[in-house]
Amino acid sequence: MEPNEFAIAILAAGKGTRLKSKRAKVLHSIGGKPLLQHVVVAVLKVVPANQIYVVIGHQAEDVEKGVATSGLKFIRQEEQLGTGHAVQCLRGAVGKSENLLVLSGDVPLIRPETIQRLCDFHLAQRAAMTILTARPENPFGYGRILRVEPTGADVAAIIEQKALTPEQQNLGEINSGIYAFRTDALYRHIDALHSDNAHREYYLTDMAAILRAAGERVVALESGDATELLGANTIAEMMELDAAFRLRNAKRLMAEGVTIFRPETCVIDADVAVGADTIVEPFVQLLGKTRIGEDCRIRSYSVIQNSTLGNNVLVRNGCVIDEAAIEDSASIGPFAHLRPQSSIGREAHVGNFVETKKTRLGERSKANHLAYLGDASIGDGCNIGAGVITCNYDGVDKHPTQIGDGVFVGSNATLVAPVKLGYESYIAAASCITETVASGALALGRARQENKPGWVAKRKARKRKS
Ligand code: UD1
Ligand code: CA
Repeated sequence: MEPNEFAIAILAAGKGTRLKSKRAKVLHSIGGKPLLQHVVVAVLKVVPANQIYVVIGHQAEDVEKGVATSGLKFIRQEEQLGTGHAVQCLRGAVGKSENLLVLSGDVPLIRPETIQRLCDFHLAQRAAMTILTARPENPFGYGRILRVEPTGADVAAIIEQKALTPEQQNLGEINSGIYAFRTDALYRHIDALHSDNAHREYYLTDMAAILRAAGERVVALESGDATELLGANTIAEMMELDAAFRLRNAKRLMAEGVTIFRPETCVIDADVAVGADTIVEPFVQLLGKTRIGEDCRIRSYSVIQNSTLGNNVLVRNGCVIDEAAIEDSASIGPFAHLRPQSSIGREAHVGNFVETKKTRLGERSKANHLAYLGDASIGDGCNIGAGVITCNYDGVDKHPTQIGDGVFVGSNATLVAPVKLGYESYIAAASCITETVASGALALGRARQENKPGWVAKRKARKRKS
């Protein structure tokens, strides 16, 4: 696209009254990403960031911060007087571009190919206004397209839901809220907008009739994929779009060689990457910036967030993994909890009811049952017995536990940090370890067992007497 051919505006100043939420609508997420960010990502595939203008107003600072892309231009619409007013606010900023493409911050599934097609069609038609339209199953709530002739491209008007006459109720073609304008024609006539309507707002949709009355060409381009053009005005609508988006995303992963059983039960965020031959079982959640390698298996009910898994990793059922890194061929769970800054080495095992936090578990090391490992660095080839606890917190500060390579920590040992276990040392079961253990040493930190022969019978006799 030529530099001055198109500027792009994204309208994102509205409150989203129908959501009944404290947060601005465009900051609500589908597929783990704010609505507005979806639109920005699609638009960036068509024009560079410095040609994109985002109109903000309601919770403007939060909305601006919520967009994770630099170089965009933000324009304030201090009072939200309607979509037409939002475009009036852009006049000074976009006047130099020959055309202006307007998108809605709450129509998130729009694809770059469709944006490009709209631009091409608009130029080819030499229109003053080109409206992107669709025929969804249920057009209720949308503005409707009144074509001049049912089969022609020309549009007479866009009529909002509340203004439809009884005969117009069955008009099935909707306004997507995405349009291309020839900038000079738009701003020559935009002041003709008035707010004499159900919402007392300046409707951008009225530009269709205004431009046509001024002798300009107004046309519609119908998209075959109505889902892509659906808006999100209520939580229920948003969840429909979320499901549609995630299914589309899951299909893309499957096309790249990932097996996802019952994809409609899985929650996989927009930016998650998964390698070929990995298997994702039903009811798995893969969230945020999670990266999973090839040949892994993620079993049901595991929730993995902002984590990196190498190749051939097995995550058994019911694990919670958050900001952790897991190297090749490790196995985790069932029911393990890896908290932030956990790093699990190659071929290591983390078993059931094991919690790790800010901990490195070295290559081939095993913590198979019932352990808490926090602020610990554990070498390669260690065995951490059932019930081992690092006591990392003294009530005020956190302290580290350092365990060398090849250490055997017996069951139910309590390691009171700060403490060091030298390489190839042995910790007897149930020991409470408070001091450094030298390499190769056995540490016993428990009371010696005492047996009292015949004690039970003597006790019984005592009880009988009294
Ligand atoms: C709008 C269209 C409707 C269309 C639908 C498609 C109008 C009058 N109607 O209705 O024909 O079918 O989109 O989804 O345009 N906004 C501002 N400033 C404002 C008001 C809104 O920036 O003063 C922004 C909102 O944040 C939102 C977008 O414009 O991102 C659309 O506004 P919304 O109120 O959702 O319009 P709809 O009622 O959905
Ligand atoms: Ca809307």
